[in-house]
Amino acid sequence: MLVDTYGRVATDLRVSLTDRCNLRCTYCMPEEGLQWLAKPDLLTDDEIVRLVDIAVRLLGVEEVRFTGGEPLLRPGLVGIVERVAALRPRPRMSLTTNGIGLRRTATALKAAGLDRVNVSLDTLRADVFKTLTRRDRHQDVLDGLRAAHDAGLTPVKVNTVLMPGLNEDEAPDLLSWAVAHDYELRFIEQMPLDAQHGWKRDRMVTAGDILASLRTRFELTPEGADDRGSAPAERWLVDGGPHRVGVIASVTRPFCAACDRTRLTADGQIRTCLFAREETDLRGALRAGAPDEEIARRWRLAMWGKKAGAGLDDPAFIQPDRPMSAIGG
Ligand code: 5AD
Ligand code: SF4
Repeated sequence: MLVDTYGRVATDLRVSLTDRCNLRCTYCMPEEGLQWLAKPDLLTDDEIVRLVDIAVRLLGVEEVRFTGGEPLLRPGLVGIVERVAALRPRPRMSLTTNGIGLRRTATALKAAGLDRVNVSLDTLRADVFKTLTRRDRHQDVLDGLRAAHDAGLTPVKVNTVLMPGLNEDEAPDLLSWAVAHDYELRFIEQMPLDAQHGWKRDRMVTAGDILASLRTRFELTPEGADDRGSAPAERWLVDGGPHRVGVIASVTRPFCAACDRTRLTADGQIRTCLFAREETDLRGALRAGAPDEEIARRWRLAMWGKKAGAGLDDPAFIQPDRPMSAIGG
């Protein structure tokens, strides 16, 4: 198992399939000038499947989440999903995507064995979408969401980041819309992961702000703390249920003590945390011909060094060098 010195066990593996993206969300990427990883540095499909196999067979991983950048830009995605679905024990599988391209791929992904999707959408207004992502693709995301729901990649979760002066007033509208479409909405506090290093603690919309805004229109009743487990989202029933809304308060109410994540970057590095300042190279070992047991040993060693928490609210916090797109949400 992947245990750390604080007794946490990592059973949830996030695999970044590419650092590229077809959007340029301001909280994630600069408008231009970001250097992509070089092709030879990326793990191949075979290497990814081998590492996931080691994770589920030798390390106790139960859940695999594919992310990016934008994972739908990875040409071999459907094949990777199919091969991971054939692993034993079979892990649960989900995909975190911006939704563009889902309209074309949702059915094939479902058939390949994908269980669910998380789609990022921050606004219901096409003009705000364009400002925020620097691309005019709002309708593509809405179409992708519908296709994912139709294909049965459910529950379809929608991730939303609110920012002051841009979309902070949209929380209740987003929730009405999500309930009407049977999507589970989750708000994520903006984290310091932007490539420009422009994040400011006093320029973020907090979980407290979001809940206050939602309560102007909805009655929210908390789900019991027991239901949360290691899930980062705290959830509330909307107007008595059955729909729920989640808030991921990464900054103001960090959940590091219950973290069950281990992360693999597109270039084969293990990160113990989004905010880790160190990585452990598995690609080198893989390409040098290391056997499965040796790869597993390195992975365990990496996790043993996992820090207690990220300390986002701490003035001494230092942002990691890699932006979100190169780490994987
Ligand atoms: N803060 C919070 N959430 C972020 N995401 C990307 N960058 C940030 C950030 N700086 C979100 C994306 C996606 C999820 C993986 O993380 O919108 O939904
Ligand atoms: Fe792309 Fe997601 Fe980053 Fe937006 S947040 S630029 S969709 S990787």
